[in-house]
Amino acid sequence: MQVLNIFEKLKNSTQEILSDQINYLKLKNAAEDLKSLFNELSELNIDADGFEQSVFLDTGEAIGLKWAGRCVDDLMRTRAFIRGLKRSIDEVKEKTPGKPACVLYCGTGPFATLVVPLITVFTPNELQLVLLEINPVSVESIKKIFKKLGAEDYIIEIHQVDAAKFAIPNSEEIDILVLECMQIALAKEQQVAITHNLYSQLKPEAILIPEEISLHLALVDGRAKMATFDAIVMGDIVYHKNSEPLFVLNKEEVRSNAKAFKQEGISFPKKKTLLPKAFSNNPCMIAITTEIKVYKEDILTIDESSLTAPLRLGHQDEQPNTIGITSQFLVNELPGLEIDFIE
Ligand SMILES: C[S@@+](CC[C@H](N)C(=O)[O-])C[C@H]1O[C@@H](n2cnc3c(N)ncnc32)[C@H](O)[C@@H]1O
Repeated sequence: MQVLNIFEKLKNSTQEILSDQINYLKLKNAAEDLKSLFNELSELNIDADGFEQSVFLDTGEAIGLKWAGRCVDDLMRTRAFIRGLKRSIDEVKEKTPGKPACVLYCGTGPFATLVVPLITVFTPNELQLVLLEINPVSVESIKKIFKKLGAEDYIIEIHQVDAAKFAIPNSEEIDILVLECMQIALAKEQQVAITHNLYSQLKPEAILIPEEISLHLALVDGRAKMATFDAIVMGDIVYHKNSEPLFVLNKEEVRSNAKAFKQEGISFPKKKTLLPKAFSNNPCMIAITTEIKVYKEDILTIDESSLTAPLRLGHQDEQPNTIGITSQFLVNELPGLEIDFIE
């Protein structure tokens, strides 16, 4: 395909993803088009043998290239991150006119899915990129994609590194840090370790995307949830209730712990959390829910994406005496919450 055609196709998909109106069918087609463009540009078969292999690091797992490439299919996730990133770039441009917004994008995967669409919106005078990725095949793939798009002018540097350990050169230049290296309940992958390492090196006004990720103890009413899928039932049905956050990752948290974590390593305290008050007559699933404020209005709440599905801990049918949990977020080879029930 001609570069001009490719750019037009990329632009059309991007406009659909950025649209304020959500039309699921159009959004799905836009994501499909993006994926086929990425496949063509990268000349990579992400389903080939071996690409499902994770890289295991001492602060968690970096998922295999195959899965990283498939993240684009998580439609509401992809939409929220690209919209949030665009909005943050607009804000930086407004605050510092005439200067490009400098984005540090960590964990590009094979396609740099969250920024490539935005080259149809911003020029290299408006947007500059520092890209980090641990997987060498993904790094080669994104180099090829930017080259074939004639978009190398957007790139300051690409580093093949462990971002949880990386010292950012010229860190004061970075205006925005964006990363999505997570699963539900912030388990297994390295969102927490990477955010702490990278964001703590940036200037105070730097924007963090996602702006906030919070974990909650929740009651989820399975029957009410099923009813939301029933076309006859109109309107929003509340099928879950969250506790106050039991863990929060945002820039305030990173800044307040930065000094101590630099000296002693990342270590969070244990916390006691009671179940939220009953909101339904049905016994409920006891779960950890993940809320993601990507940026400003772009948020992902329960079941809106694979990242915000509830993590089942148990069920009130089986454990009617449970009143809460003690939890501690651990950062090690298998990061996540360590949980004990309270009766
Ligand atoms: C969930 S995928 C996201 C892919 C893409 N950014 C997207 O949003 O569609 C996470 C990516 O981060 C990379 N990654 C995970 N941990 C990393 C680390 N410590 N340093 C650098 N890259 C890492 C993985 O290799 C993977 O490509």
